[in-house]
Amino acid sequence: MPDYLILLNHTHRLPEGFEDTITLLKVENAVGEAYQVEEKAYKAFLALREDLMENDGLQIELLSVYRDVARQERTWARTMETKGEEYTRKYVAIPGCSEHHTGFALDVGFMLDGKVSHINADLFSYEDMYQVVHKKMPKYGFILRYPAVKEPITKISYEPWHFRYIDDPALAQEITDKGICFEEYWANK
Ligand code: DAL
Ligand code: ZN
Repeated sequence: MPDYLILLNHTHRLPEGFEDTITLLKVENAVGEAYQVEEKAYKAFLALREDLMENDGLQIELLSVYRDVARQERTWARTMETKGEEYTRKYVAIPGCSEHHTGFALDVGFMLDGKVSHINADLFSYEDMYQVVHKKMPKYGFILRYPAVKEPITKISYEPWHFRYIDDPALAQEITDKGICFEEYWANK
């Protein structure tokens, strides 16, 4: 069983061999984009998706999930080139330190007018829809990993789209209700 509570951030790198402990599924989102995602995280995502479709009229879709270190290096380099260093450090984890290496981090957007936007500026404009999703996600074992007020601790800017699966709905609810970030949970564990 993989360690679903693993902490990864600027000071905690992916341990050697961690990727051998996870089972990745190959999946597609509704617009045919292909992803790999850890199996339990995906099952939980589908349950959350169904709840939101049925009860809130919202269709969430995957934007990015598993990325190996080489892929994160490409993301880092591309963002540096197009957006510069300040932006890159705010929104892209250092290769080797990204939660996306585990398959437990899901970047989630919305199907709107038959399209799924990957553009951060669009995603920020969906705040009202994200609020609905953020309220429901702990019940399915997800926490919002980069809350706005916790930037000094996480070192990553507010990302309403980055959901982290921790495989424990009660704990996810507790972390959410206490308004703490994952680093604070670990510090007081
Ligand atoms: N966007 C998050 C911080 C990552 O690159 O892992
Ligand atoms: Zn992410």
